[in-house]
Amino acid sequence: MASQVKPDLLSSAPAHGARHVAIIMDGNGRWAKKRFLPRIAGHRAGVEAVRRVSRAARELKLECLTLYAFSSENWKRPASEVADLMGLLRHFIQSDIDELHANGVRLRIIGNYRVLEPSLVEMIDGAMARTAGNTGPVIAIALNYGAQDEMVRAARRLAQRAVAGEIAAEDIGVEAIDEALDTADLPPLDLLIRTSGEHRLSNFMLWQAAYAELYFTDMLWPDFDAHALGQALDAFRMRDRRFGGL
Ligand code: IPE
Ligand code: IPE
Ligand code: MG
Repeated sequence: MASQVKPDLLSSAPAHGARHVAIIMDGNGRWAKKRFLPRIAGHRAGVEAVRRVSRAARELKLECLTLYAFSSENWKRPASEVADLMGLLRHFIQSDIDELHANGVRLRIIGNYRVLEPSLVEMIDGAMARTAGNTGPVIAIALNYGAQDEMVRAARRLAQRAVAGEIAAEDIGVEAIDEALDTADLPPLDLLIRTSGEHRLSNFMLWQAAYAELYFTDMLWPDFDAHALGQALDAFRMRDRRFGGL
């Protein structure tokens, strides 16, 4: 009953009720094409959207915002576009880490980012270490991320522990798998948004999305903003999440 809820809990919990929102940021290329611009112009505009939406996530009191920035399949793109994307990522961390840190954000990476260029890995590790003690929202960037690859790495880790005699096969349940995934210490995924009108998950958070609400919008990622995130959260608030129950 509401009267039994502590007043401070009532005032601090956001009305939308979502803790963890993840976004498949799609449509940068089409945004650029519509303007007769090169694809990199769309990716640059996409970085601006990342800045806007990260600020909005803080204001909306999300605990975690996960952004799909580069998939394990995006290596199939021309080398020049891959290099552009890595360059933008490097520039984003360099230019924005101070603001993120000042706002108490914890930067996290999911995905097999350690195979990226050593100087980039070093920069990412430095940024994560610097913000690790912050208490504000988590911004998790999915880099060289593929859900199947994440699950393969988790399965191998568990198998190695079993072979070493640290765990028995029977110890491997939902919880053990949760803990072996890249998202181990992130809150459960509530809402998964994809922009650009595509209706697929493209190998993103397949395990974590088991009971997430899905939200698709035709808006291209560079046009996405605080208002659009608010609309997605309004839609989320209206959903009846039953988790298999009644
Ligand atoms: C999303 O935009 C950014 C990444 C996948 C890195 P796209 O580059 O996929 O844009 P479209 O889908 O070609 O419009
Ligand atoms: C998904 O977008 C990956 C990211 C947003 C990083 P893609 O544009 O790569 O997905 P597909 O190829 O349309 O499935
Ligand atoms: Mg795309």
